Amino acid sequence: MNSSLLIFILNILYVSGWRDLKVRRFSDDFLFGAATAAYQVEGGWDADGKGESIWDRYLHEHPEVIADGVDGDVASDSYHNYKRDVEMLRELGVDFYRFSISWPRILPTGLPNQTNEKGVEYYNNLINELLKYNIQPVITLYHFDLPQKLQDLGGWTNELSVQWFEDYSRVVYEKYADRVKYWITINQPSTVCVDSYGSGVFAPGIKSSGFGDYLCHKNVMLAHAKAYRLYEKEYKPKYQGSVGIALSLNWADQLTNDTQNVEATDLYREFTLDLYLHPILAKSGNHPAAVRKLVARRSQEQGYKKSRLPELSAAEVELLKGSADFIGVNHYTTVLVSKSNKQHPKPSLLDDMGVDLSYRTEWRKSHSEWLRSAPYGLYKVLMYVNEKYDYPKFLITENGWSTSTGLGDQSRADNIREYLLALQLAIEDGSDVMGYTAWSLMDNIEWIAGTSERFGLYEVDFDSEEKTRKPRLSAFVYKRIIQKRILEPDWLPENLEISITQKVTREEL
Ligand SMILES: *[C@@H]1O[C@H](CO)[C@@H](O)[C@H](O)[C@H]1NC(C)=O
Ligand SMILES: *[C@@H]1O[C@H](CO)[C@@H](O)[C@H](O)[C@H]1NC(C)=O
Repeated sequence: MNSSLLIFILNILYVSGWRDLKVRRFSDDFLFGAATAAYQVEGGWDADGKGESIWDRYLHEHPEVIADGVDGDVASDSYHNYKRDVEMLRELGVDFYRFSISWPRILPTGLPNQTNEKGVEYYNNLINELLKYNIQPVITLYHFDLPQKLQDLGGWTNELSVQWFEDYSRVVYEKYADRVKYWITINQPSTVCVDSYGSGVFAPGIKSSGFGDYLCHKNVMLAHAKAYRLYEKEYKPKYQGSVGIALSLNWADQLTNDTQNVEATDLYREFTLDLYLHPILAKSGNHPAAVRKLVARRSQEQGYKKSRLPELSAAEVELLKGSADFIGVNHYTTVLVSKSNKQHPKPSLLDDMGVDLSYRTEWRKSHSEWLRSAPYGLYKVLMYVNEKYDYPKFLITENGWSTSTGLGDQSRADNIREYLLALQLAIEDGSDVMGYTAWSLMDNIEWIAGTSERFGLYEVDFDSEEKTRKPRLSAFVYKRIIQKRILEPDWLPENLEISITQKVTREEL
């Protein structure tokens, strides 16, 4: 056995809890929840005055990009099934439900000159139903579904998008901030920009890597900061809620310990982690210097008059600094980084970073090509952020696993336990973590994967009229963890009947 393999195995044993045989308990104030996003579950894409979103347009015009051809027109039909959704959350016994608001359902044109009252009512009903059972709503303001009318004007590459988002946020806070205490401005700015305006694999499908993605980056981050400041100034004094941002914080390790791969990995982390964290958490604010300098130099070499990554003004740096009460962590997997010897198109993000990515063959595969199980990565990424940015408050806003159809999802149950153990170790080593969110409450439209990759604790029968939901094995395991507040590696349910054991309800009070 070579030494790196030995070290790797010791690492696995370490984060698998073999460090000792201690039983670790989640503290009583640690919160457990489950999450969804509007486009992925709601359906009712044009119901009751909802406007068109970029995902509606993109998948209607390009059904060929969807793995199984199923788009979000009906999805899990949560627009009509929200009471069943809340019932499932009660069955699990979660403390909170993280869901997103569809911007065009509330503002069909994207602008606040026209409000769709039926859309407003839908979220009112959902919020009230949750609160009736003491389940806290955690609202994401933006989870990828921009109003198409705003995309027609350039979407997130238009500087005005910062204002559009602030105006939309105000409408939502006005309607719901009296009852909602946890807010997430933007879900995964990296996906909003890199996948949508860079590689173009996500709606609106714009291919402008190394340019459009950077234009978007500045606007999305400023939009987040504006929405944060708006709440801080006008709503926080009254309602004392907190506002964060959900970042895609997957871990990246070097393929080998060669200097060039170690350096490539450092740079990759600057581009995928620090580009989002540094403006908010660093004392100096702004984009990380390594990224700023590299993109500016290459832009100049390539004949651009300005850096392709637009600079932040001093006022913008200040606006962003400290603009989060907590960092939402969307963590799924780990990648291995090596220095690339390939020619990537110029300009492009890959060319700027100059890396190739791979996975360790030992890492268990999910039903999604990009998702491999490497629980130590959650520990590593939290400790990386802790050391660089002085132990910020975290909420794990997404963590999950994909399977095919079927209720016997042992691999998802194992994945939850393994990642929660890594999380316990990170907490033991000083991380300040408010809670954990399982992605996802139920099967949904996994963007361009359609229904071919299932992420749900509950299975959804997409062929049925009612979009029937049934708990998977993992739902029982998660319920048990929430109840007992410890991890029992071998625990299995005796049968697959689930019932509500929810504490006190508001009605009973
Ligand atoms: C709201 O503004 C948009 C954009 O200017 C416009 O298309 C729409 O007709 C307006 N709606 C109303 C009700 O005035
Ligand atoms: C690289 O070195 C570190 C520190 O010694 C070690 O923990 C890690 O396992 C090594 N990685 C590889 C891929 O050899």
